[in-house]
Amino acid sequence: MKILVTGGAGYIGSHTQVELLQAGHEVVCLDNFSNSSPKVQERVERLAGKKVPFYRADVRDRAALEQVFREHRFDCVIHFAGLKAVGESVTKPWEYYENNVGGTLTLTDVMRRSGCKSIIFSSSATVYGDPSEIPITEDCPKGRCTNPYGWTKWMQEEILRDLHEADVKNGDADPWRVVLLRYFNPIGAHPSGLLGEAPNGIPNNLMPYITQVAVGKLEKLHVFGNDYDTPDGTGVRDYIHVMDLARGHAAALQAIQAGGVEVFNLGTGRGYSVLEIVAAFEAASGVKIPYVIDPRRAGDIAVCYADPGKAERVLGWHAEKSIEDMCRDSWNWQRNNPNGYRD
Ligand code: NAD
Ligand code: UD1
Repeated sequence: MKILVTGGAGYIGSHTQVELLQAGHEVVCLDNFSNSSPKVQERVERLAGKKVPFYRADVRDRAALEQVFREHRFDCVIHFAGLKAVGESVTKPWEYYENNVGGTLTLTDVMRRSGCKSIIFSSSATVYGDPSEIPITEDCPKGRCTNPYGWTKWMQEEILRDLHEADVKNGDADPWRVVLLRYFNPIGAHPSGLLGEAPNGIPNNLMPYITQVAVGKLEKLHVFGNDYDTPDGTGVRDYIHVMDLARGHAAALQAIQAGGVEVFNLGTGRGYSVLEIVAAFEAASGVKIPYVIDPRRAGDIAVCYADPGKAERVLGWHAEKSIEDMCRDSWNWQRNNPNGYRD
């Protein structure tokens, strides 16, 4: 298939591009580099052994998108482009709604005018809020998000669903085809050490924080609370290797052909606590991670892990990589690229 990957230079998009190219798909990438580096694209091409048409453009830029869609006929768009820092979204809500929701509105308008109405969207387990059931199935109702970033995902899902439903009601012979992928906690990196997560400034998420402690850029880990109702009191999450996540997108291309609106959890189905992750990372890297216990972080929940059964049943996809693989590859990436793509 011929696929436009928006936000393809980012953490998940870059790994997904490699996966798609290796599976024989034709990829065109678009990114404004607001949270990524041009170096990523060189590395993607090196790993895939292929050139990838690239547009430095913003998904909110209608004229730029129209040009991309004039120059190519796409079977599907995989839409990663968006802002994703939870804390920043609290201080800059307008920027988050405008970039994420606004970007999706412009993109889908240009798509429908050019006759491409198939989209795979990067959603998040954050749309479940404080989940009403564990493990979380796709039938678990969406909850109340605790930050503007979460609401942008929540709203973008609704927009895409409504586009499909309106087409059906209007008797459109070829209604929007939508796959909403709700990622759990992506970590890990390409095993080559060429691609990985390169957050700006002090990382908000657990694994990049740990790897920066390991490499000596940060002094110690702050564990946010040890009084949750979990076996060791620290928060439990479903960490998934970014390579497994990338394969999940390739698998979702089958579901898009079936039509309709489909939602899939992409997780492993197994939760690990913060202290279990610290121990797994120490075992994989041989580096001790000093830590202190701090108060709970506002908006955090105790436990969050997926029931990934639907993706297995419908897509034949399940996560294959272990927590050891995730820690080893995160460490390999950080050690070889202590300053991310700035090295
Ligand atoms: P990322 O920041 O590494 O990648 C996003 C990419 O989109 C970046 O390269 C950025 O430059 C680009 N971008 C942002 N706004 C753009 C715009 N207006 N026009 C063009 N390009 C733009 O993030 P990621 O971790 O790879 O996440 C990809 C997607 O998955 C995001 O939508 C994110 O919200 C979602 N997601 C991520 C996680 C996670 O933990 N990483 C979890 C759930 C969902
Ligand atoms: C965060 C986001 C969520 C997003 C998800 C995936 C928040 C409140 N939520 O979820 O919207 O979809 O990332 O990108 O930011 N932890 C520490 N110390 C740290 C960092 C984290 O103890 O320095 C703990 C957290 O309390 C949590 C676990 O580690 O229990 C994982 O945290 P994190 O990596 O930030 O992911 P989430 O909170 O699950």
